[in-house]
Order: sequence, then C-alpha cells, then structure tokens
Amino acid sequence: MGAPDILSPEFAADPYRGYRILRDQHPVLYHEATDSWLISKMEDVERVFRDPDITSDNYSWQLEPVHGRTILQMEGREHSTTRNLITPAFRGSQLRDKFQPVIDKNARELIDPWHLNGEVELVGQFTTHFPINVIVDMLGLQKSDHALFHRWYHSIMAFLSNLTQDPEVAEQGLRTKDELQAYMLPIIAERRATPGDDLLSVLCTAEIDGATLSDLDVKAFVSLLLVAGGETTDKALASLMRNLVEHPDQLEEVRADRSLIGSAFAETLRYSPPVHMIMRQPRVDFELRGTVIPAGSTITCLLAAANRDEERFEHPDTFDIHREDLDVNRAFAAAADHMAFAKGRHFCVGAMLAKTEVESATNQLLDAMRDIRLAPGVVVEEVGLFTRSPGALPLRFTPA
Ligand code: HEM
Repeated sequence: MGAPDILSPEFAADPYRGYRILRDQHPVLYHEATDSWLISKMEDVERVFRDPDITSDNYSWQLEPVHGRTILQMEGREHSTTRNLITPAFRGSQLRDKFQPVIDKNARELIDPWHLNGEVELVGQFTTHFPINVIVDMLGLQKSDHALFHRWYHSIMAFLSNLTQDPEVAEQGLRTKDELQAYMLPIIAERRATPGDDLLSVLCTAEIDGATLSDLDVKAFVSLLLVAGGETTDKALASLMRNLVEHPDQLEEVRADRSLIGSAFAETLRYSPPVHMIMRQPRVDFELRGTVIPAGSTITCLLAAANRDEERFEHPDTFDIHREDLDVNRAFAAAADHMAFAKGRHFCVGAMLAKTEVESATNQLLDAMRDIRLAPGVVVEEVGLFTRSPGALPLRFTPA
C-alpha cells in the first residue's frame, strides 16, 4: 500500500488510519514535503527521545524566531538549571498549597456563567480559557488581557505547526513576538523592582551561577509557558470530555468514582493526545531499522501513532479507562507508558500541573452537569495535524 501523506485531506480527516499504515508498512519514512523522516513505532520514538546524539536543535527554526531561545533547545547543565527554576511551582507542595486554590477558582469562575443554562459549547466557553487563565494567574499577569494572550498563543502554535510553510502564518508569528515583547518588557522591569509572590517574580529574580536571566530570556520563558501550558491542556480537556461523553458507561463510572479521573485522563493522553508530532535532529548519522537518517536532518516523531502501537497496547483503537497496559501511577511522570508528554530530558515539566488542572476542571464540570450528552445531530470533529482535538463540543445537560 502507498504511504499516506501527512499533509493530505484524507490524513487530516482520520490520521489514526494513516498512522496504522505507517507503523505496519513504513515505520521509517522520508516525507519530501516536510523534508523530514517520519517515525511511528513506540520503540523507535522512545529511542529517539533518549539518544544523547539526537538534539532538539529543530526548535531554533521551529520556535526561536517567535519565542526567543527557551529550555526546549537547551542541553546539559544549562537545561537542567534553567528548567529547575520552574519545577518547584509545578509539582509537590507549591502546586498543592499555593496553586491548587487558584486552579479551583479559575474553573469555578468559568462554569458559573452558564451552569444553569443546560447547554454549553465546552471548547469556546471553557477549555480554551481555563488553562491560559491559570498560567496567567500563576505568572501574576492581567487576566483581563486574556484575548491578547489567546491570540498570541494561537499564533505561536500556528508558527510551530506550520508544516506547509505558509508565509502569512510565519509573518503573524513574528508580529506576535514583537507584540508580546512590547507587552512584557515593562512588566518585567516592574517585577524586578518590586517582586511579588508569583512565578514571573521567580524568573525575574532567580540567579544561575550568580547571574539573573536577561529580560529577553524571561520574556522567552513566559512566551513558552503561555503556549506550552495553554494550548495543550485546553486540547487535553476537550478530548477527555469528548471521550467520556462518547462512552457514557465510562462517564458514569467516573462520575460515581472521581478517583477514576486520573485514569480517564491518562487514557485520553494515549488515545487522543493533544500533541501529535514532535521533531528532533540527529547530530550524527542515525540508523533505525536498517535506514540511515543523515546527521542534521529532521525526524518527526509521531507521538499519536506510537500511542496506538499494537506491540505495546492491546486493542489500541479502543478507549478504555481500565486498560491494564497503561499504569496511571506513572502516567504523569517520565516513566509513562504513553508518549503524550514525550520522554527523556525534555519530558513535559508541566505534566503534574496539567493533571491537577484536569482533575479540578473535570470534578467541577461533573458537579455542575448531570446527564451530559452531545447536542442533537452533532458529530464531533477533531481538527489539527500537529496538535489535535475537537474543534467544538456542543453539549446538553441537566443543571445540577
Ligand atoms: C496535557 C497537557 C500537556 C501536554 C500533552 C504537554 C506536552 C508536552 C510535550 C510533548 C513536551 C516535550 C516537547 C519536546 O520534547 O520537544 C512538553 C514540554 C514542556 N511542557 Fe508540556 N504539555 C502539557 C502541559 C503543560 C503545562 C500545563 C505546562 C506549564 C505551564 C507545560 C510546560 C512545558 C514546558 C516548559 C516544556 C519544556 C520542557 C523542557 O524542554 O525541558 N506543559 N510538553
């Protein structure tokens, strides 16, 4: 069978069919239009993320033009010391004691305006707002500027995902860089002068080897956090609710036993991950299944394909919150069975934050809505190639 083209309309409509063909017949495939090597087997994707000779230099063209240089591109000690500036806020006692109340409050504020209506378009009225509001609060920025942040993170994400090299998307990304910089620099100056109890103040005052981060480094970090923490969790929540609504028996189980939200989220990350592709660049020739991928070329790791590899998961195309081959206890750590947070040294630093956000939001959504179902006649469509989730999720429910 011919290899599927990841840029074709058929692939956009149902990438999972294409992923199966890739895994079965073309596990290492050169894709001319993106000038990259597609890999789709779990074993291979894991190997690429763990190999010390495979770098994330791809971000120098994929993201640096809009973000500036971020931890995604760093290696070694620079990477670990800079990453460590934010890890305490994203797990353990700081997450629990300081940020859990912020997360709960943000979910409540977004549900309040519509919870008596009996209907909601969950993507537009909840999931696109919630994670960005949380990260904006954590950074101590103005929530009233939500529309700006939203526009910026969509434009940065579009730049990152611009596989067809659309010049308008590229230009919009560069404009965003200037706008975000003009917005952030005065705030950074102010926060350096009078630091507060927020994450931006931590970034402004922290010292690495006796030196603070430059203004542009802080701005780049904020830009990364807005995108990494916004778009991904937004999409994960929309997919989780969609998966549950389309599996009413599992929805009712989760409603009755909220400790299952973690399993439902883990299975969502496997079955329908928000990020479908992550790129890498080998610094030396890299051999995979008898094919030599030349040094300096781009490898596209198809995370969503690896997550449905039948060599790892039984009935991979079935959504099952009780599956035995996905351990919920390590689903949010670097040893996860799924690939949604990637692996290795750049494993998602926000995984526990995402879990806390999703648990809080799902709990409150289930409290507010009984008898949740899709609006009449609706067939939910997933959209996106690089990142993917339902474009809209119109629901009907009985107000609780
Ligand atoms: C379900 C939600 C999320 C998913 C699926 C996700 C996915 C990912 C993936 C795949 C990577 C690896 C990128 C690479 O190796 O090239 C990553 C890294 C990262 N994520 Fe997340 N993410 C999520 C939530 C968050 C949140 C809430 C934050 C924080 C606000 C965050 C911050 C980051 C950062 C800063 C990195 C870079 C880590 C490094 O380079 O060391 N993520 N994420």
